[in-house]
Amino acid sequence: MKIILTGIQPSGDLHLGNYFGAMRPAIELQSQGQAVYFIADYHALTSVTKADDLRRYTFDVAAGFLACGLDPQKTILFRQSDVPQVHELAWLLSVVTPMGLLERAHSYKDKVAQGAETSHGLFAYPVLMAADILLYNSDLVPVGKDQKQHLEIARDIAQKFNDRFGPVFKLPEPVIREATAIVPGVDGRKMSKSYGNVIPLFGEEKAVKKAVMGITTDSTPMEQPKQIEGTTLGQLMQAVNADGYKDYVAQAATPGVGYGDLKKKLLSEIATRFAPYQEKYRHLQAHPAEVEDVLRDGAARARAIAAPVIAKARVATGLSK
Ligand code: TRP
Repeated sequence: MKIILTGIQPSGDLHLGNYFGAMRPAIELQSQGQAVYFIADYHALTSVTKADDLRRYTFDVAAGFLACGLDPQKTILFRQSDVPQVHELAWLLSVVTPMGLLERAHSYKDKVAQGAETSHGLFAYPVLMAADILLYNSDLVPVGKDQKQHLEIARDIAQKFNDRFGPVFKLPEPVIREATAIVPGVDGRKMSKSYGNVIPLFGEEKAVKKAVMGITTDSTPMEQPKQIEGTTLGQLMQAVNADGYKDYVAQAATPGVGYGDLKKKLLSEIATRFAPYQEKYRHLQAHPAEVEDVLRDGAARARAIAAPVIAKARVATGLSK
């Protein structure tokens, strides 16, 4: 059975962009092979600076996945830091990773260009990510477009290691989700915490309402028909309720229907669609031991996959006999 592996950074409150862009596709893939999904808390430390935030985001990602339909019987869900052997592997990979490979990484170069204070952790981020992928014998790695280069780097590093020490690692195949999966934020740009344009997935009703009512629209007056196909409002509706989308377009084109009405309709569609997930999520928040049990079991299963791989890498490098 193919191993399908991906990591999710716990770096903020979950929003609809996370759901449509990463969570739903990952949950759909769980029947296609052995899914191995982890919460990349080590990686998140490159941006999250408060311990309480990291703990809460990590728990919330786990609870969010379970609430949205991740099946912990099938899928291995675990916390990256529960398998610290990944750092041993990261070091073994570091010694074969050319500096130039990391210096060319877009995500690192972007941070430098933005004038962000950089750290060794940020620079070495792709090496740790390669270790995540290689430690669990991954066949397929589904990620968003922004992670494409990181996957190429992981393959390069695996190849370099195999060239020097013999065939230890399987080269993973990237599965890149194209931009169609990107849900716009309320201002029309990609929905992202850093743009402050998100619609929360498990937020208070008031916060969801505020975000939806704040969706940017043009100034077509109430009496005139509106063309919402391809607009932010239209795209969000299409994501939330694809079946109801045609009716929605027709409704928008009806004179006398205002943007306020259309936003209220979207709001109620969001409430309907996500109500069952929110209920499960609230249950898990009230029963954190259920989430912890899943993560503990997931870590044990992940360690069982990792153990022979790290043992082989240790022998290949001469660390052990
Ligand atoms: N860098 C990924 C992101 O920000 C998260 C991640 C960490 C990951 N390790 C991984 C994704 C391994 C896939 C495989 O989205």
